[in-house]
Amino acid sequence: MNYERFISGRANWIKGSALAEVMKRASQLQRQGIKLISLAAGDPGPNLIPRKVLAELAKEILENNPKSVMYTPTNGIPELREELAKFLEKYEKIKVSSDNIVVTVGGSEALDLLGRVLIEPGDVVISENPAYVNTLLAFEQLGASVEGVLVDEDGMRTDLLEEKIKELKAKKKKIKFIYTIPTGQNPMGVTMSEERRKELLEIASKYDLLIIEDTAYNFMKYEEKGIPSLKSLDREGRVLVAGTLSKVLGTGFRIGWIIAEGEILDKVLMEKQPIDFCAPTISQFIALEYLRRGYFEEYHSKALQGYKEKRDVMIEALEESLPNAKFTRPIAGMFVMLFLPEGADGMSFASELMEKYHVVVVPGKPFYTDESGKNAIRLNFSRPSKEEIAEGIKRLAELYKDKF
Ligand SMILES: Cc1ncc(COP(=O)(O)O)c(C=O)c1O
Repeated sequence: MNYERFISGRANWIKGSALAEVMKRASQLQRQGIKLISLAAGDPGPNLIPRKVLAELAKEILENNPKSVMYTPTNGIPELREELAKFLEKYEKIKVSSDNIVVTVGGSEALDLLGRVLIEPGDVVISENPAYVNTLLAFEQLGASVEGVLVDEDGMRTDLLEEKIKELKAKKKKIKFIYTIPTGQNPMGVTMSEERRKELLEIASKYDLLIIEDTAYNFMKYEEKGIPSLKSLDREGRVLVAGTLSKVLGTGFRIGWIIAEGEILDKVLMEKQPIDFCAPTISQFIALEYLRRGYFEEYHSKALQGYKEKRDVMIEALEESLPNAKFTRPIAGMFVMLFLPEGADGMSFASELMEKYHVVVVPGKPFYTDESGKNAIRLNFSRPSKEEIAEGIKRLAELYKDKF
């Protein structure tokens, strides 16, 4: 049967994710018995997560706490929200009441819910260019058109941001908010300087815009430069936070949060209830005990050391094998963006690398809001082992030298 006539107009705005396509092809090859090295996914390292501690917590909670298999309040278990408030104050210098925290199904749901509450079809969302493709898709699915502002080594170019706002205002466009991933940006791996953070807040205030701060990589900082989160600098309530424990506990737990207030908070909860009622209860209890019992303090700095070493292996391998290539040098997050020579096609390079060299990377193009970025390739260093990183970059360099 052809179902086209049943599909809603809104569903027709949905574009498939290029990330999903890459993963689909990779799993086809794996099913054929081909061993792949993946420098693709945005997962933390499975061996840098204290899985044994988490397993013990899961067992204890499931055995002893009957609430762990029930619904929780839509905004999350009160004790977890209290614990998150303390955690955010300690690590992010954010003073937030637990009443202003909503526990979500990862940062993904946090971003989607904020989009649902704020976006009307036809609205403009300003985003970093490039930015995390799934958020761009989520906003576009809600009818937003995304306008990008270029990112360099210091994060979003705030000088270009103001120009962009003026240009859009002149065209009578309705801009609702600015979306940014200031720390360990996905896909670029760059971190916004403190000066730019302050400028961004000033611009948002001047033009009466909200900011959505995606803090997915705020707990993956490798050089402590003490750059404050946007929310901790926000004096006007303009910054809405979409946070997550995915990169700390593992992406499978699906625990994230929103920090919001007033009508936005009320509407977020109304939106969330019919969608999924609450974030997964067992994950909420595990996150609660993980934070409450001090496991974050105990294990996280060791994990960061491990990520830092992996990053260094990747950077050194790139410097050695491709001394003339351009790539970013992250001080936070999980990604390095590699630029092939101008005019090269990253999509076909990534495809050839997977098919012939059995190394999976993500083409950068889908992360861009315009026609640029065709030559970009996103490389992940958090999930593969150091040996896989070295071997993966070696094979990538072979193809690179062969082609350029
Ligand atoms: C920038 C950014 N935001 C949000 C997310 C969503 O993460 P999750 O839904 O697992 O919390 C990701 C995942 O990779 C990300 O890179």
